[in-house]
Amino acid sequence: MGKTYKGPWSKGRRRNVMALDDVSLQVREGRTLGVVGESGSGKSTLGRLLIDLESPTRGAVRFRGRELSHRGREESLAMRKQLQIVFQDPYESLNPRMKVGHALTEALAIHTKMTKGERRATAEEYLERVGLSADDFWKFPHQFSGGQRQRVCIARALIVEPALVVCDEAVSALDVSVQASILELLRELQRDLGLTYVFISHDLGVIKNIASDVVVMKSGQIVERGEVGEIFEDPKTDYTRELIAAAPIVDPHSKRFR
Ligand SMILES: Nc1ncnc2c1ncn2[C@@H]1O[C@H](COP(=O)(O)OP(=O)(O)OP(=O)(O)O)[C@@H](O)[C@H]1O
Ligand SMILES: [Mg+2]
Repeated sequence: MGKTYKGPWSKGRRRNVMALDDVSLQVREGRTLGVVGESGSGKSTLGRLLIDLESPTRGAVRFRGRELSHRGREESLAMRKQLQIVFQDPYESLNPRMKVGHALTEALAIHTKMTKGERRATAEEYLERVGLSADDFWKFPHQFSGGQRQRVCIARALIVEPALVVCDEAVSALDVSVQASILELLRELQRDLGLTYVFISHDLGVIKNIASDVVVMKSGQIVERGEVGEIFEDPKTDYTRELIAAAPIVDPHSKRFR
C-alpha cells in the first residue's frame, strides 16, 4: 500500500509527499512488530493506516481478512474497537479537564452496551491492571506523573479489549527507568490479554527490548525486515548498520551503556 500527502505550496506549485511508497507487510498475531527508521521515514503514517485513522491512497489494509474502510459505519466502528493506539505525549492525548475515570468510561460508552455501573467497575479494574489504583478514577491528568499518565493512556487503549495496539513512540518522552517499567507492563499485558503490538520507535534500544519482529523504514519504504535477533546481529543494509551504530543502546534491565 501507499500514502501520498499534499505537500506545502512552493513557487506556485504543490508537490506531493510520498509518505509511504509501496509498503507491504503482515503483522503476526500475538507478536510485537517493531518499526524503526529515521525521522520522516513514514513510521507514524504506517501506524495511522494500520488502525484506520487514515486510508491509504493506494492499496488496502486488511484486519483478519476484512478491509479497513475509514468511513465511520457501524461495522467499521466495531473493527476500530479492535485497533487502538498509544501516542508519545500522554498529556496531549488526554483531555486536561476530564477526570481519567471518565476518559476510560467514555471509551466503553462508545464501544460497549455496559451500564454506567459496569463501566465504572471496568475502569477501576483497568486502572489497577496498569498499576494505578481504583481511587485514581477521580483524578485529573495533571495529578499524575508522565509515566502514570502513560499508564492511563494504556488503560484507555486496552479497556475496549482490542486485538492490536499501535504504540507510536509511546515511551520516548519518559526517563530510562520509567521506560523500563512501562515496557515491562506492556509485555505483561500482552501475555495476559493476548495482544498484538506494533511498536514504533526511533530508539533501537527500546525496539531490541520489546520487539519480536522488526521492519526498518527509509523514505517511505521497508528496506529490511526480520526477527529482532537477525536485525541486530546481522543487519543486511548499511542503513540499518548505521542506525544501530548511531544508537547509544541502553539495556533497561542493566541500565548500563554498551
Ligand atoms: N498529514 C500530513 N500532511 C503532509 N505531509 C505529511 C503528513 N503526515 C506526514 N507527512 C509527511 O510524510 C512523511 C512521513 O512522515 P511520518 O510522520 O510518517 O514519519 P515518521 O517516521 O513517523 O517520523 P518521526 O520519527 O519524526 O516521527 C514526512 O515527509 C512527513 O513530512
Ligand atoms: Mg512519527
